[in-house]
Amino acid sequence: MAGGERIPGTPRYRHHLLKNPGTEPFFPNFLLKEWIAGAIFLTAFMLWIVFNPVPLGSKANPDDTSFIPVPDWYFLFLYQLLKYYPGSAIVFGTVLVPLAASLILIFTPWLDVKKARHPYKRPLATGGMVLVTFLTIWLTNEAWIQHKAELASSGGGAVTTALPKVPKIPKSQIHLIDTNMPGYQVFESTCATCHGSSGEGVIGPPIYAIGKYWNEKQLTDFVTKGGGGMPAKGGLTNAKQLQEVLDWLSKQKG
Ligand code: HEC
Repeated sequence: MAGGERIPGTPRYRHHLLKNPGTEPFFPNFLLKEWIAGAIFLTAFMLWIVFNPVPLGSKANPDDTSFIPVPDWYFLFLYQLLKYYPGSAIVFGTVLVPLAASLILIFTPWLDVKKARHPYKRPLATGGMVLVTFLTIWLTNEAWIQHKAELASSGGGAVTTALPKVPKIPKSQIHLIDTNMPGYQVFESTCATCHGSSGEGVIGPPIYAIGKYWNEKQLTDFVTKGGGGMPAKGGLTNAKQLQEVLDWLSKQKG
């Protein structure tokens, strides 16, 4: 590994240290560390994505005028930034602030030449990083809160259009699970009238795999409220039955 320069006691290590005390060579020592950390992170990230695939959002629908566009979550902080520069000041939010931030980041190696590495010994760099991290998280959260408020004030229907849809497939390809749960009977006697006996969709949309696309909270919120032709609680009056059918539905992942 790296010719013994990193291994204390080997001749190359001592030779290097004598020549440049308190340093380590960029290649291969420093890069090797970076590569190892990078490889571990990428492998872990890849495995995580393989086992937790992200469902696609709903299909674009040009007829849906209630749709409120919003960027993906990792761009929300930039999107939120724009809101603080109204009118002609928008150039600050779109160009100047992001540009200044990018330039500082690019030139950091030349701006920040202090030898000390401990965070406490570098209050400016550490403070800056903490501030930027805090601002990014705060802006992201703020954007999300405001987006949810916009959705809520634009009427219940829009909440579902922002959520992914279960694709329509032939009834024969649907395999409902856990049909021995009490929720299945509730489904058959109530929801199936509109959603089909396998949840394939009739008057109401397909919901046979809704548990894969919506989390329990999204499901509970929508079914409880109803809207757009769907009766509140699907027409149920019994809170226990509602909970049973939600428990069963959230297990249906297609
Ligand atoms: C009278 C017919 C009717 C009944 C009964 C009914 N639904 Fe619906 N449901 C609909 C309609 C119509 C929609 C589409 C609403 C919209 O525009 O978003 C819908 C939407 C849904 C959605 C959202 C699906 C999506 O992709 O947007 C879920 C989940 C749902 N219903 C669950 C249920 C459950 C659970 C029951 C039984 C407790 C039930 N429904 C009973 C008509 C019905």
